[in-house]
Amino acid sequence: MRFREADLEDFPLLVELTEREGWNYTEADFVNLKNTGCAHTLVAEDVGGILGMITVIDYDNMGWISNVLVKRSKRGSGIGKRLLAEGIGILGRKETVSLFAYERSKKFYQSEGFRLDRTLHFVRYKGYMSGAATRRGSYDFLRFQKECFGYNCPKILNMLASIGTVLSPVEGEGFAIVRADPKEPCVGPVVADDPVAGKSLLYAAFNQIGAGCRAVLPRMVEGTDEVERVSRLYLGERPILDEGRVFAFSGLELG
Ligand SMILES: CC(C)(COP(=O)(O)OP(=O)(O)OC[C@H]1O[C@@H](n2cnc3c(N)ncnc32)[C@H](O)[C@@H]1OP(=O)(O)O)[C@@H](O)C(=O)NCCC(=O)NCCS
Repeated sequence: MRFREADLEDFPLLVELTEREGWNYTEADFVNLKNTGCAHTLVAEDVGGILGMITVIDYDNMGWISNVLVKRSKRGSGIGKRLLAEGIGILGRKETVSLFAYERSKKFYQSEGFRLDRTLHFVRYKGYMSGAATRRGSYDFLRFQKECFGYNCPKILNMLASIGTVLSPVEGEGFAIVRADPKEPCVGPVVADDPVAGKSLLYAAFNQIGAGCRAVLPRMVEGTDEVERVSRLYLGERPILDEGRVFAFSGLELG
């Protein structure tokens, strides 16, 4: 088995693998991530072809891991474990390496040394809530990222803003990114200094898309159903979260 960085020709097969897990990726998602320059998708392969994948994102002081997937017929033979070790190795020295895990795969990561930080909610918006937002045109991504999540690298947020819509709260500072993706419309991150304006911003962001919009939330809110429970796990220093100012995370794959 060998590892290499996935290239454009691999993306159709990677989308196919993720479709079987119900992850709703498109080739454009892989291309956009790659173009940020701070995200790398690795594949494990043998003579028979691709066996699995992992995406690692370099948030400067923090490394983020996502899309850990092994082909169904090859599970249970140590490939996931080797992919994870390879991804962590590529990230190099970090204060923290973190990820979101579904309940069903939490034990896999825990057996590789990851510790539980907190439980979060992957939700679907049902609609019928009112919210308010403005469009200001300039956002201090770096400040909020540093203060609310402890990362130092806004490249992913700049990419999300370039493909989505950015809203601001009606009171205080903050922002919400809305992605009207045809396969997985979603909202996040949503951060705001003012708690009332922040919640209103979250609903305004949901309403840009309407019922069916997805988000990863630190706590359940009215007007949403939980699709899956997820856990934030970590190696190294415990990752921070400013619970008073974070209303939604960037997404399952982005942290
Ligand atoms: C999770 C996944 C990547 C594991 O890959 P894998 O190649 O089957 O795992 P490995 O064979 O390397 O297992 C490593 C260890 O984790 C354990 N493990 C693997 N999957 C597990 C699970 N679902 N629950 C509990 N333990 C698990 C193994 O028993 C093994 O333990 P050991 O070292 O003590 O023997 C794979 O099951 C998968 O692709 N799942 C679907 C996609 C997914 O949900 N990914 C995670 C997203 S959060």
